[in-house]
Amino acid sequence: MTDPRSESGIRLQKVLAQAGIGSRRACEELIEQGRVSVDGNVVRGQGLRVDPETAAIHVDGERVPTAADTVVMVLNKPRGVLTTMHDDLGRPCVGDYVAGRNERLFHVGRLDADTEGLLLLTNDGLLSQHITHPSHGVAKTYLATVPGPIARDVGRRLKAGIMIDDRVTSVDSFAVVQALPGSALVEITLHEGRHHIVKRMMESVGHPVERLVRTRVGPVLLDQQRPGSIRVLSGPVLRALYTDAGL
Ligand code: URA
Repeated sequence: MTDPRSESGIRLQKVLAQAGIGSRRACEELIEQGRVSVDGNVVRGQGLRVDPETAAIHVDGERVPTAADTVVMVLNKPRGVLTTMHDDLGRPCVGDYVAGRNERLFHVGRLDADTEGLLLLTNDGLLSQHITHPSHGVAKTYLATVPGPIARDVGRRLKAGIMIDDRVTSVDSFAVVQALPGSALVEITLHEGRHHIVKRMMESVGHPVERLVRTRVGPVLLDQQRPGSIRVLSGPVLRALYTDAGL
């Protein structure tokens, strides 16, 4: 936090307004009501100046990302695209989808080449670390097409935990979304990010994955976003992502 008497830094209500929280007047009211904290300290009184590049600002406990050049975006990764920013062999990779951008972007975790769906790209290294680290508990949801029918105890077994590489791994939720003759579409939510984790878990309960799509990371949904398209996150969903990641 910057000293309120100092001339360096930017006034907190201006930083909040620029981050889209509301008008400067509305932001002053939030400060007055004790709803704003900077670096963990509730701000009492107006006039505080902060460095928006480094300050951790929260409103009602929700993180407000304020670093000007920070960008977080969603790619709906198509099947067959490698999760790497550059491929020496020239194979299709996620870097191709952001080739025109100036930021130094990287992918947050990985999806297998044959997995589709929601992949976050950002230049915020801390956010990326927090989302991928299991201790911060950002949930990821997948839709998997598997051979059916699904036995009644599959959900219970997955929730109880499956031994994967000497570690018991469990899902938060499991649901059969659609049962077709000979196959099923299932939805799985888990906090784990280990290599091939969904495929390995489903394989171990007798349902090898035929198609896998990630539909959600924390509060961010894939929704109707077209395969191969990019969407830059802002506003409430971006704040919720930072908060979910424990930042
Ligand atoms: N689990 C998998 O098996 N593959 C992915 O791409 C992501 C999660």
